[in-house]
Amino acid sequence: MVSATESSDGLRIRPARKSDLGILVDFMARLAMHVAGGAPRTLRRAERKRLRELLAAALEDQDRLVVVAALPEVGPVGMAYIYVWRSQGIWEQLDDLELKSGVIDDVWVEPDYRKLGIFRAMLAELLAFAEQHDVQELILEYSLSNREAEATWSRLGFQPTGVRAAAFTANVRKAISAGQ
Ligand SMILES: CC(C)(COP(=O)(O)OP(=O)(O)OC[C@H]1O[C@@H](n2cnc3c(N)ncnc32)[C@H](O)[C@@H]1OP(=O)(O)O)[C@@H](O)C(=O)NCCC(=O)NCCS
Repeated sequence: MVSATESSDGLRIRPARKSDLGILVDFMARLAMHVAGGAPRTLRRAERKRLRELLAAALEDQDRLVVVAALPEVGPVGMAYIYVWRSQGIWEQLDDLELKSGVIDDVWVEPDYRKLGIFRAMLAELLAFAEQHDVQELILEYSLSNREAEATWSRLGFQPTGVRAAAFTANVRKAISAGQ
């Protein structure tokens, strides 16, 4: 059970509730736009509904936690999400083992409230949740072009462990053909 925490400046980190779903979908849309770049856009109705349902399901799931950062007089200014990902050990030589990772996703703090320690405070709650679930490792993805995410994660103890590569099929076709 995750309870709310409140700091001296009134910042409150609490589990999300149904009444937050609208603003949380807005945050997720802003995050997607932040990652994609370009001109402001509006989410399609069907996508809004999908995200809303996804978040609503997460609120009911013991293995998932969505936290909201809220300020007095302002309301929600940030969100963060973690879920427990379970996998089984694969080596015959080792005992049965369930491996658990905490996957962090959908992290957003409103631009006017950044660099004030709000995400650090939300991460403390995600971490406590992970520890309660015997999760030893936290994992997440961010795009290489997202400099503030890179700076934040490295400041908070995360290090890149892999690279996700992408290519247009036309470029792969060209590269294959060039090697023949
Ligand atoms: C990334 C993000 C969530 C950080 O939120 P935040 O509330 O500003 O972060 P905090 O103030 O708690 O900072 C945590 C640490 O990261 C550092 N940090 C945060 N933003 C930084 C930046 N732009 N450049 C350098 N360091 C930064 C802080 O200095 C702090 O370290 P310190 O306390 O040792 O000084 C926020 O910038 C954001 O919402 N960005 C857009 C969405 C996004 O990129 N999400 C992550 C996708 S994976």
